[in-house]
Amino acid sequence: MTRVMIVEDAEAAGEAAAELIQAALATRPEPVLGIATGSTPLTSWAALARRRLELGRVRAFALDEYLGLAPGHPQSYRAVVDREIVRPLGLDPERVQTPDAADPVHGPARYEEAIAAAGGIDLQLLGIGRNGHIGFNEPGSSLASATRVALLSEETRRDNARFFGSLDEVPTRCITQGIGTIRRARRLLLLAFGEHKATVVAAAVEGAVSASVPASAIQLHPDATVIVDEAAASGLVYSAYYRASWLETA
Ligand code: F6R
Repeated sequence: MTRVMIVEDAEAAGEAAAELIQAALATRPEPVLGIATGSTPLTSWAALARRRLELGRVRAFALDEYLGLAPGHPQSYRAVVDREIVRPLGLDPERVQTPDAADPVHGPARYEEAIAAAGGIDLQLLGIGRNGHIGFNEPGSSLASATRVALLSEETRRDNARFFGSLDEVPTRCITQGIGTIRRARRLLLLAFGEHKATVVAAAVEGAVSASVPASAIQLHPDATVIVDEAAASGLVYSAYYRASWLETA
């Protein structure tokens, strides 16, 4: 079932997310965290870093990686993960994996095997694209998809051009965990902030479950939490119900 938590802003969401992540990491001696890149999780990483937890035994798997960037490119997700997550949180870089951009043929299947060998993902953090993607599963992706090479949509490339010098520099292909992979995580935590995400958040949480809105797959998950700020919640029809339900179960 999907629980929806509506908070004032991204800072408050980061604190709430850090609380849930900390609780999930306490469930196993060698817990496994699914990590997302992009702007949305930044307040969560900052809130987690402030807690100064001992996270040296945590294993982590990133959702996705661009193909076609030079090794060590500052916008490769390996570099982003090291810079924005591994170092600030004190994770062991050896225990943190990103899909292997150097081996698009065998890398995706090996990634699935590595996640399974680690015992599966305890909590998968997710952002959501304006077009409804999770990971880089663009609209039209199968809800049962596995880790694979995928094309980025033009919309996603335009949205991510802000991290690159120009649109032309944004890769056209990636390796992404599939929606089926994401659904196998024990818990999902999807975050979204800002008015520009309001329409897609409503579609994902309250619309039909469909490949047209890959994030709607969270509705099929038994333990999914969505944390949104007031702006991203503004398209939700049942927000009064979510607020009351959250208070009831808190
Ligand atoms: C990132 C990822 C993407 C982003 C999404 C939202 O690893 O898989 O699905 O979560 O594009 O990006 P931001 O947070 O920058 O709005």
